[in-house]
Amino acid sequence: MKKIKEIIFVNESGSDEGIKEAEKYVKKAVKTAAGFFKFPAGYQVSVTLVDEDHIRELNREYRSVDSSTDVLSFPLEETDPRGARILGDIVLCRDVAVRQAEEFCHSLERELSYLSVHSFLHLMGYDHMDDEEKLKMRSMEKRIMRKMGVFKNMDRTEAGKEDLELIRLATQMLDMAYCPYSGYHVGAALLTSSGKIYTGCNIENASYSATICAERTAAVKAVSEGERHFVKVAIACSGDSYAYPCGVCRQFLNEFADDDFEVIVIKGSGEWEKCPFRELLPHGFRGKDMGIDLE
Ligand code: THU
Repeated sequence: MKKIKEIIFVNESGSDEGIKEAEKYVKKAVKTAAGFFKFPAGYQVSVTLVDEDHIRELNREYRSVDSSTDVLSFPLEETDPRGARILGDIVLCRDVAVRQAEEFCHSLERELSYLSVHSFLHLMGYDHMDDEEKLKMRSMEKRIMRKMGVFKNMDRTEAGKEDLELIRLATQMLDMAYCPYSGYHVGAALLTSSGKIYTGCNIENASYSATICAERTAAVKAVSEGERHFVKVAIACSGDSYAYPCGVCRQFLNEFADDDFEVIVIKGSGEWEKCPFRELLPHGFRGKDMGIDLE
């Protein structure tokens, strides 16, 4: 017998803009999350998208909290006549999701996906009242989001003000790219140990190999101003996948990379992820490997 996988999506947010996409992402999130659990005969979940006034009302009525919120979960422990588990209702606030997506510098789809996963876990009994529970819930969220491939960097707390500023500047630099040959825009923002941020863009050349990448442009600007220690770099591109630094740039950045130098990459959609530079260039070659101490 075929398993029941029923995700009922209702839009009560007052706007149809981008609704097909939102529905697609929400359903994908719920389906992926459900894949981590066993439902012998299947499951049924309802997801409703509402506006801010509506979620505030629900929050007041059911939780006695008189303010709006991003998502509310209403678990049900029921079984339908076919034996499928009725898990309950997820209520998402579109207005708050839009605001949070902007605040965290990622797409609305990504925000809705995360909120759906979070809420689904509440329906499954997960919570974040104490540290132990919270850790369990967070790690489950991470597993699900990783499986979805929506984004790797799950921890919102990692997105500090500094990261967001670098992401904003790198994205802004996309407009400065000189890329008539590839049409591929890249922008970079590099934070150095002095606390200053240097920006750059890719600059192409009719003699293709004379092209300089965005992150190297930023690095050259920084070093020529006396900087010698790189703390973090953000690299934005106009494409659908991340532009991790090319081999030449990895070697170039390695010369000035602090031990915990970090790289943030940003796709055209605004999604981003962060990783330690050391993961991109293990065993990187440096002056000290020739016995030259530059410190
Ligand atoms: N590019 C960068 O600016 N940074 C990277 O990390 C990868 C590639 C630029 C160079 C060129 O202008 C275009 O992307 C296509 O290779």
